[in-house]
Amino acid sequence: MTRIFRDFWDSSLTARLTRRVLVIVAATFLLLLAILKIQYLMERDSLRDATLQMQAYDISSRTIVDESGAPKVVLPEGLHAAYSRPDRPYVYLILDGEGRVLASSHGMEEPLAPVPAQGEDPLFRNVDLSTGIDYYGITVPLGNTPFHVQVAQGPAHSDVLEDSLIEEFLEHSWPFLLALALGISAVTVWTVRQSLAPVRRLSYMARNIGPASLDRRLPEDNLPSEITPLVHAVNTSLQRIESGYRREREFTANAAHELRTPLAVLKANIETLSSLEEVPQLIDELGDIERLVTQLLRLAQVDNLVLRPGEEADLHAVALAVAQQLASMALASGKSIELTGEQGRVPVRGHADFLALALRNLVENALAHAPRSTSVEIRVGADASVSVIDEGPGVSQGDTARIFERFVRVKPGAYKGAGLGLSIAQRVAAAHGGSISVGREPGRGAVFTLKLPGDPPVSAP
Ligand SMILES: Nc1ncnc2c1ncn2[C@@H]1O[C@H](COP(=O)(O)OP(=O)(O)OP(=O)(O)O)[C@@H](O)[C@H]1O
Ligand SMILES: [Mg+2]
Repeated sequence: MTRIFRDFWDSSLTARLTRRVLVIVAATFLLLLAILKIQYLMERDSLRDATLQMQAYDISSRTIVDESGAPKVVLPEGLHAAYSRPDRPYVYLILDGEGRVLASSHGMEEPLAPVPAQGEDPLFRNVDLSTGIDYYGITVPLGNTPFHVQVAQGPAHSDVLEDSLIEEFLEHSWPFLLALALGISAVTVWTVRQSLAPVRRLSYMARNIGPASLDRRLPEDNLPSEITPLVHAVNTSLQRIESGYRREREFTANAAHELRTPLAVLKANIETLSSLEEVPQLIDELGDIERLVTQLLRLAQVDNLVLRPGEEADLHAVALAVAQQLASMALASGKSIELTGEQGRVPVRGHADFLALALRNLVENALAHAPRSTSVEIRVGADASVSVIDEGPGVSQGDTARIFERFVRVKPGAYKGAGLGLSIAQRVAAAHGGSISVGREPGRGAVFTLKLPGDPPVSAP
């Protein structure tokens, strides 16, 4: 249970947001306290000085000088009580010109501070020697008389005031802040849950997509804009998976179909075998099946072909290797192979073995279609292209697209082929970012051109 809670607390978006909201509320609370404290400190001194001034003028206005010239302070009852408190938080003294005490609130005999000279700061901070109380006070002249009024406050008040202000703030504001934190958390939880409702709906729908329902897509309307790209990406992936899956299924079905016919023929021939003289024909048929299986394997290989960055090949060397490999096969059928065009290195980004596989299929086709005693030309272009030209019948306009499809042969009986060579070559070209085009050379047969992207590899000399 605690683990479930911990997992929820760590990974849930709601929990994360709630946590942050609580932190923000607590930080705001502390910030308010700090602001209050700073404001209090800024105001405290000027407030205290102003109060002292007012106190001093209040005492001045209530001081009368009798006929004998002696000053006397006459206070109303409330003020009198404040200036008579035994703990002496507020005191006043009336001083003569020399600073001697003429009258005072608590029968004090010594002044709290000397009378300030002209231009001197009237404020003072001093300890009353008779009581030991630390006073903060002010000395002001008493009207047009030679006397001075001295009023002072004891030390306790400022701190008490400060503490009580903060206490009051805490006392009155914590229920409000708690309610605020709970309120914001509740709104956050509700908002997150509401906002994530479409995500929950989508997960439910995504769970139900399987091999039997690969054509289904997640709805992209009315979603929070933050998750639309994610859903779009999932749909695009589903699209790719669906077409890949369909291709695989089609391919397996085609492969099974293509293999079944020659196997059935072979089986029938074996069953009706009357003499050993027919064995070479059976071996020939087995060779066709072997070719079909080999082409299927190659196609599966190139279907998964992904070029590694930095892979590099020399197109001329590839063409030379293919020409050498197929030279004896060409000779056996009374034909030849000619390597023309660029004779030096033609560096390209690509995989030499797979490029050779693609080119070999093009040359095999050319040899299969070229009449005896003719030559198949492999022409390497400096623009990262290689063309295979033969003297055969060429490819009619209507067939140029479909011959690249799997298992398509224009004249199935004309020669033994699996109908996969051009698909393999085209897949290799595509994996290299290139293409294969088919055309006709004037006065000759078909021209198949494998074109790779023009920019040569950086490391090329
Ligand atoms: N040089 C060419 N001249 C004329 N037709 C061609 C040429 N190359 C290919 N074709 C046509 O395109 C078809 C498809 O070629 P592809 O190489 O894919 O299959 P294939 O040669 O029949 O079998 P395999 O998989 O054994 O190569 C061929 O059957 C042929 O009809
Ligand atoms: Mg072929």
